[in-house]
Amino acid sequence: MKLHHNPASPFVRIVRMTAHELGIADDIELVHTGTFLPIAEHDAVAKDNPLGKIPTLITDHGHALYDSRVICEYLVHHAGDKTLLPDEPVSRFRILTLESLAIGVADAGVSLRYETFLRPQDLRWSDWIERQTSRINAALDALESDHADSLGEINLGTISTAAVLGYLDFRWPDWGWREGRSKTSAFYDGFAQRPSMILTMPE
Ligand code: BEZ
Repeated sequence: MKLHHNPASPFVRIVRMTAHELGIADDIELVHTGTFLPIAEHDAVAKDNPLGKIPTLITDHGHALYDSRVICEYLVHHAGDKTLLPDEPVSRFRILTLESLAIGVADAGVSLRYETFLRPQDLRWSDWIERQTSRINAALDALESDHADSLGEINLGTISTAAVLGYLDFRWPDWGWREGRSKTSAFYDGFAQRPSMILTMPE
């Protein structure tokens, strides 16, 4: 398998952490996009994904898969290990919902990063920045109040959650998301010791 990737992307990190947790990371050849702006087309990625987005995985059968949700489900299937996403419906949809919450934080976080870092200063939209910030804080509150009981497990939901909390620390070390969220904070500190987190740390 081949993965178009950039280690800074939280979506890529979710996929790579999933591969590590499944023990199949060595089966994936990492193809680094290098630095490219989100407003530019990346030729090599666009060849495999018309949206030009990462992560994009090319299977050993030559099929291109995207986005991170689809790739993670594929990796679970490929590894033949359903521990990270069981078939039993109550667990499955609880895990998928936690994964979606985390991916929503990643979407808002990347959007915030583009708005505050890449967009020309005079075009920045403060309402947009505030909305992405409040969306992330609301999701963090929901993690603490509604999902804390699920954070003791290792599955696609908790992997995604750890990856996006790592993205917040990476891009906004002064955010202060741990304040008032002791359960989420304890979860993250524990998860951060796992090889899947250590081996995928963005520089
Ligand atoms: C980042 O540098 O924050 C980033 C890079 C690639 C995709 C998403 C975010």
